[in-house]
Amino acid sequence: MAKFEIRHKDLMGRIAKLQTPHGPIETPAIMPVINPNLISIGADEMKKNGAEMLITNAYIIYRKAELREEAAKRSVHSLLGSELPIMTDSGSYQLYEYGDVGVSNREILEFQQRIGSDISVPLDIPTPPYAKRAIAERDLEITLRRMEEARAIIKIKTNEDDKNKSKNNPLLTGVVQGSTFVDLRAESAKRLASIGFDLYAIGGVVPLLESYRFDKLVDIIVASKLNLPCDAPVHLFGAGHPIIFPLAVALGCDLFDSAAYLLYAKGKRYMTSDGTRKLQDLQYLPCSCPVCSSYTVNELKTEEGVNLLAAHNLWVSFEEMRTVKQSIVERNLWELCERRCRAYPALLTGLMQMARYSALIEKYDPATKHPFLYLGPSSTYRPEVLRYANRLSRFTLSGNVLITTMTERDRDRDRDRDREPKEESVIESKDKEEKEEFQHVFFVKPPFGPCPVELEETYPVGQAELPAEIDSDAKTVALQNVLKLLESNHKKADFVFQYDHSWKDHLLLLIEEIGKYAEVRKTE
Ligand code: GUN
Ligand code: ZN
Repeated sequence: MAKFEIRHKDLMGRIAKLQTPHGPIETPAIMPVINPNLISIGADEMKKNGAEMLITNAYIIYRKAELREEAAKRSVHSLLGSELPIMTDSGSYQLYEYGDVGVSNREILEFQQRIGSDISVPLDIPTPPYAKRAIAERDLEITLRRMEEARAIIKIKTNEDDKNKSKNNPLLTGVVQGSTFVDLRAESAKRLASIGFDLYAIGGVVPLLESYRFDKLVDIIVASKLNLPCDAPVHLFGAGHPIIFPLAVALGCDLFDSAAYLLYAKGKRYMTSDGTRKLQDLQYLPCSCPVCSSYTVNELKTEEGVNLLAAHNLWVSFEEMRTVKQSIVERNLWELCERRCRAYPALLTGLMQMARYSALIEKYDPATKHPFLYLGPSSTYRPEVLRYANRLSRFTLSGNVLITTMTERDRDRDRDRDREPKEESVIESKDKEEKEEFQHVFFVKPPFGPCPVELEETYPVGQAELPAEIDSDAKTVALQNVLKLLESNHKKADFVFQYDHSWKDHLLLLIEEIGKYAEVRKTE
């Protein structure tokens, strides 16, 4: 396997250093696609934009005699005019588009080796989403056979090769296929892992990206990732729009290729981190990149504007990836996903699909230490909330236990009220409560649930920032977690559950349940 050192982690995402024959790159990385037939933005310009690695198509080079000869005589690096590491795709996508490419797996792999590719790809078969099962199975079998053949052609690099700086030994990609069948994706990933590749790629997802089926995309990434070695880099084929970067990185994708920057520019579409705008609809350029701060909308609309627009699209793609990386370092990638996924309903569907895998993400997620910002109902699914709920069963309680929804503010108010002169009857009832001794007091903190007073200041509850009025989703989760605590200590302690009026709407269904384990009291 290629050397892949993980430096920072958040959710299933990571920042890592990947060694290639042309030196190390930092992931998550975007590899801009360069078409050797029509280079619009040169490799030097790509590097200035932040590209650490490029991707091109070995099949396109192979098909055209002059390109083939130049690349074979010198190298793919010389052809593209860059010493950056270069990944070469195999022509599989052309196979998908045109049905036949007239080249064999062996031929294209040996060619990639000959032209000095840093990362090569076998000729996998991208099966479209929602294909018939029999077709997906048949394609997958062929793909897996080709993967085995590829591993026999391009041998795993040995230490000896490293010492000799053997040039003809690219890293080899194992490509996961299986259409939209998650069990086929899982099986595909498992079999690739047992063959052993330097990195893995998830293929056949371009139509899902184009049709905004981000929920399906999430399922496919998760099914693949769970069955691939977790310390190997994973490429998401064809995902070049910045709107998908936060979610895809959060699920553990490390490499991205972008042809989109140019395709969108040709279609006069202006990328932003939260969607795509038609150039014709723009009166202003909402960006401060070198292009947008030097040109007007009308200048971008001209024939020459295509390359400028491509440069802008590339800029926002790299900018978004830097934002994603910074949020991994800060360990607030979930919050970035929440903010970005509110730009578009289909993205929100993708986010909620990711939330369904929260229990799984929790296993990868480091015990985070940053403030927890509650940004709406989707925050109730955060791995931290789940981890907190799972740990509630660790509390072993006895004696009298009070669980109260009273907030800090309520308590301050009560304390102020205590200082005011009181009527006889109020003093009496207060006395009664104070006489009642509780061995343990828990505050109910949405969305986490019961939190012992002693732990109120500690992570995650103590560092959670919540809006003044919290939604019913957060309260519901909190009450479900109260139930968890009650259930795991049933008959071990005497519970009093105290709630105030602001909770009553949310309690209607759960109050009965809570009443089975605790004496329920309502405060005014
Ligand atoms: N580019 C976009 N999708 C794919 C895919 O499934 N396989 C390969 N090899 N390249 C792609
Ligand atoms: Zn711009």
